[in-house]
Amino acid sequence: MDDKHIALTPNYLKKEIARLKKEKNALIMAHYYQRDEIQEIADFIGDSLALARQASQTDADIIVMCGVHFMGETAKILCPDKKVLIPDMNAGCSLADSCRPEEFKKFIEKYPDHTVISYVNTSADVKALTDIVVTSGNARKIVEQLPEDEKIIFGPDHNLGEYINSVTGRNMILWKGACHVHDRFSLEKIMELKNEHPGAKILVHPECKRPLQLIADKVGSTAALLDFASNDSSKEYIVVTESGILFEMRRKCPEKVFIAAPGEDVECQCNECDFMKMNTLEKVYECLKNEKPEIYVDAETASKAVKSIERMLEMS
Ligand code: 13P
Ligand code: SF4
Repeated sequence: MDDKHIALTPNYLKKEIARLKKEKNALIMAHYYQRDEIQEIADFIGDSLALARQASQTDADIIVMCGVHFMGETAKILCPDKKVLIPDMNAGCSLADSCRPEEFKKFIEKYPDHTVISYVNTSADVKALTDIVVTSGNARKIVEQLPEDEKIIFGPDHNLGEYINSVTGRNMILWKGACHVHDRFSLEKIMELKNEHPGAKILVHPECKRPLQLIADKVGSTAALLDFASNDSSKEYIVVTESGILFEMRRKCPEKVFIAAPGEDVECQCNECDFMKMNTLEKVYECLKNEKPEIYVDAETASKAVKSIERMLEMS
């Protein structure tokens, strides 16, 4: 029957997604910031590093990347022969948008003897201008493998760059980009929460501003924060990153209390990434059924970008 006449209930969508996935040999991957119902049906959930690694290893014919556009591009660059789908083509990233390739090119031309390191939250065009891609999960490890006197440019996330400079003692030249979610967490509100919950540990993503990094019990990627909470003896945590991660934290540690930190805006919580939340169960179903929207990366850009991504995978 034409599904125009069927109520697209969550149960129906879940069943159809499972059927289509099998029929088409598709793999559904989801970032930790995805809606709970998408994380529930995903074959694989992870941080940016794990998603890139998994994409490079899968033998599925189709990858449905439930995340944002740069995650789909990274998967396509690593698997040019596979069909890479994304539920909503408008799911971008304010951090990736804060680094336009034309401007980044001019910036790096000012420092010709520098190694260019870019965060994975960038377009394929910026990756093509980059020597080594990093994620928040491996940036420190990768920078520490470079000779101490190596001159480095780091972009686009300024807060992550400051964090890596502080833990490695390097003096990387930083691009001034930021994520609109992480850059807006409020130190004042988090300190109020800490006063209400003195026993709670503070978990902070390195895309947050330096004062927040300094009050953290743990600074790390989504996977690192999850891992810390799973192996730590505390009962309560204040989580300073996009609130989607709480789904997996609560699933892994049902006996613990996770409190989502609020943003600075008094009107809203502001701890959700509107781009990540564009993907819905219905869009996952439609994209798997119609095999679109599909991610394309032009061959010349991909051939340059793949080198910087593969360098990351080798070094992490
Ligand atoms: P992770 O690599 O820590 O999952 O972060 C991705 C991201 O978009 C953070 O805003
Ligand atoms: Fe980009 Fe920020 Fe959303 Fe992560 S949370 S995808 S960095 S806009």
